Amino acid sequence: MPDTPVLDPATSLSDIIHKRHSARAPYDPSRPLPEADLESILEAARWSPTAHNMQNYEFIVVDDPSTLTAIGQIYSRASAEFVRENYAQLSFSEEELIRKGTGVLATMFPPSWRRPDPEPLPDGERGTLDATMGSCPAVVIVIYDPSRRAPASEGDFLGIMSLGCAMQSMWLTAHALGVGMQIMSVFSSGAVEGELRRILSIPCHLRVAFACRLGYPVGEARPYLRVRRPLDRFVHRNAYVEHQDEPGPVAGG
Ligand SMILES: Cc1cc2nc3c(=O)[nH]c(=O)nc-3n(C[C@H](O)[C@H](O)[C@H](O)COP(=O)(O)O)c2cc1C
Repeated sequence: MPDTPVLDPATSLSDIIHKRHSARAPYDPSRPLPEADLESILEAARWSPTAHNMQNYEFIVVDDPSTLTAIGQIYSRASAEFVRENYAQLSFSEEELIRKGTGVLATMFPPSWRRPDPEPLPDGERGTLDATMGSCPAVVIVIYDPSRRAPASEGDFLGIMSLGCAMQSMWLTAHALGVGMQIMSVFSSGAVEGELRRILSIPCHLRVAFACRLGYPVGEARPYLRVRRPLDRFVHRNAYVEHQDEPGPVAGG
């Protein structure tokens, strides 16, 4: 059975930061997430920093197969806004992605999403979430109360950043434990959030921030081009200076 290797405890933090990645492949449905690993991932969130130490989150761990199936039956559809804004981040070749250093490969999305004009949305846009959820042994849904914001934090900006800190702590811990993790933003949008709210009895005053799909990817890890801008393209010393340089390639595992 192909495994994600469990990392040596001596593996350096920078190595874990570098190698953490989005595990989007189907997960092995016969391989449950060990309770101790789930607890470590949740503990990592618990000790993450939050603005004013508000700990502005609640977590719903879903590992009951019938509830996971119900979540997989939720219909989702890319909005015109998503398709339009997504297009701006797409690269149509690996060379283009490496040159830009930001964004994602167009081949990650259905052909109908790889266009600048989202109207009319063609067939194939609407489907259930079963393809991603079907094989998943556990999902952690992160919810929060936007009305309980940190002081003077317009739009709950500090609260949202705090949720991001929890996300990163969970992700690094999952990776260090050899557990695959994928963030799924789809659950925080419109009708999908409404359906999830119904299935999980989430009260109206709480919003869904994101979901973490956790498990063990099946099959050989497919090579996945991950790129980042080099430091000299976004670090400024002592004053902001517009960068003129042609981007240099930075690709990683
Ligand atoms: C706030 C946030 C939301 C994200 N939403 C999704 C998502 O809905 N689906 C997905 O597959 N990846 C999602 N990602 C993962 C990013 O696409 C990914 O981190 C980025 O492309 C870099 O790839 P890497 O994680 O492999 O380094 C999200 C990441 C963040 C931080």
